[in-house]
Amino acid sequence: MNKFMDPDQQEPEKHTHLKTFAKEINEGLSQSPKRISSKYFYNKRGDELFQSIMRMEEYYLTDAEFEILSLQKEEIAEAIKYSDGKFQLVEFGAGDGYKTKILLNYLLEMGANFEYVPIDISANALTQLCEDLASEMPDLKVNPLGKEYFKALDDLKANELRKVVLFLGSNIGNFSLQVAQDFLKEISSRLNSNDLLLMGVDLKKDPHVILAAYNDSDGITKAFNINVLNRINEELGGDFDIFNFEHFPVYDPVTGSTKSYLISKRPQTVSIAELDKQFYFDQGEPIDMEVSQKYSTKDLNSLAENSGYEVIKYYYDCKNYFTDTLWKIKS
Ligand SMILES: C[S@@+](CC[C@H](N)C(=O)[O-])C[C@H]1O[C@@H](n2cnc3c(N)ncnc32)[C@H](O)[C@@H]1O
Repeated sequence: MNKFMDPDQQEPEKHTHLKTFAKEINEGLSQSPKRISSKYFYNKRGDELFQSIMRMEEYYLTDAEFEILSLQKEEIAEAIKYSDGKFQLVEFGAGDGYKTKILLNYLLEMGANFEYVPIDISANALTQLCEDLASEMPDLKVNPLGKEYFKALDDLKANELRKVVLFLGSNIGNFSLQVAQDFLKEISSRLNSNDLLLMGVDLKKDPHVILAAYNDSDGITKAFNINVLNRINEELGGDFDIFNFEHFPVYDPVTGSTKSYLISKRPQTVSIAELDKQFYFDQGEPIDMEVSQKYSTKDLNSLAENSGYEVIKYYYDCKNYFTDTLWKIKS
């Protein structure tokens, strides 16, 4: 039993979680084109692979956001702290908190009165993060929530504390443009006029730089994608032969969308025991694995406008690769 997880994901409810996983895999692989939600990338192995991705030279996103938060933490923390009242710092998709810790440390140093609410679907990531924070920042009040983003939304209204919502690391990029807008609207409809959103967004730039981040020479991104097939094999009794799939990322500079596909190298049939079902893959057939949407500042101005926010400020890294943007509720 994991004390950090939503009852939805604990024993015996782990069974419910497995049923949802099986149901969504069935729906996704029955569609054309076939697809698997990237939220299933994050089991223990997936979390480790993502940490390796963050350390890759090609994956500029982490360094860029680390730079923004390190060099501009005073201004960001002042804006977040805003007044002396208590607030909740709620982070969607906290992961290992590598960059968030810069802000947490600085807010503690400032004597800010707040509690930190990391939300993550990965029980492993959340457990690790809470253990790290307990030893690194023993004075920090942490109230973790092991939930899926959309299921966690109503927790924003669970108390009257002022909210500062963090959505870092270009997590918003894993939504299509429409879902991103809908999700941000769902958040804004639950926030009050003094609440804030700080969102880390990857910007449109040289397509070669972008594509390399999803196609590293050591094959770590490939392993990250393939790991989902391993997960289906382990948790749902699948018989995917991972050597029969190729990792294929593409970037479209017009739409700003980076898509990652797994391509079936040959005609093949895969069985999934938990579903009592077989899935046929043609040679060259893709599984749509992940979108990593890139935005321009103009795109972000429209996104804010259309989802109920006003932009307070864009914080950029020195290369203008990435932005952390601070939004308030539209008055
Ligand atoms: C790309 S990592 C980024 C982590 C961190 N924000 C950062 O910037 O380093 C995404 C994190 O969000 C979590 N996540 C992905 N989809 C999720 C969902 N639908 N609901 C809740 N958490 C999710 C994953 O488990 C993972 O820890």
